Amino acid sequence: MTPASDLRRYNTATAHLEPPFAVLDLAAMRANAESMARRAAGKPIRVASKSVRCRGVISRVLAMDGFRGIMAYTLPEALWLAGSRSSDDILVAYPTADSGALGRLAGDAAAAAITVMVDCPEHLDLIEKAIAGTAEPRPIRVCIDIDTSYIALGGRIRVGARRSPVRTPADAAALARDIAGRPGLRLAGLMAYEGQIAGVGDNPAGRPLYGRAIRRTHKFKAHDPANRYHVGDRVEIRESRPLSREKRWVVSKLVKSGHEEIPIVDPTAPEARTTAS
Ligand SMILES: Cc1ncc(COP(=O)(O)O)c(C=O)c1O
Repeated sequence: MTPASDLRRYNTATAHLEPPFAVLDLAAMRANAESMARRAAGKPIRVASKSVRCRGVISRVLAMDGFRGIMAYTLPEALWLAGSRSSDDILVAYPTADSGALGRLAGDAAAAAITVMVDCPEHLDLIEKAIAGTAEPRPIRVCIDIDTSYIALGGRIRVGARRSPVRTPADAAALARDIAGRPGLRLAGLMAYEGQIAGVGDNPAGRPLYGRAIRRTHKFKAHDPANRYHVGDRVEIRESRPLSREKRWVVSKLVKSGHEEIPIVDPTAPEARTTAS
């Protein structure tokens, strides 16, 4: 199929509808989702509801292998998704100050599925205050938002959002200790999102310096004690004590040998959309 024949199909299928409306090619969506799951190589992908905005689509993707959990945009949306049993693992990715919704969260059984983002003690105070009026409040699951913007030259260059005041392991540990000391809260995890490299390839067209900076942040020198791995192998690495001036990582296992081709599909490319049968 070609983009032109796809368009003819969509036009025929929607000829009786009054615009505006949105069209989703479910076969193409499935092909793109399968391609993502393949590239994630076993790591579950959390579906970002803010980028999908349709519960039916979210449920279809979650029913596929390789996808687990929802990343929701707001707490009221997360409560709605939890109420409809869309997932048992819903993360609200942005710190919320919606006191009414926090109060509902504390009193709602379905809310055991929800985790909210936190980034400072004042925010913990706000959550505690918001749930104080709830009879027999459930513990609120919280996740620490870590700032991973790229900082160079001692802070003179910064690329990325000032997402959170939690920047260092010590910052995260202090906030984790604070959470552990509050009976109404449970620490469920840590989140770090490198927004500055989202959707940017390693070699963005017309931006050579940016590309170089991105490749630099992606380069890890890892020790291979038995000299077992080869150029082109895809491997898993783990952090270690400093092994040399630049080496802080060790190769722990082979994920895929460099001798096999790993097909990379760009989901936005017309060919990817036409792989759907
Ligand atoms: C925590 C987090 N993860 C992932 C995303 C990516 O969302 P998408 O690329 O679907 O817009 C965002 C976007 O802001 C985000 O804040």
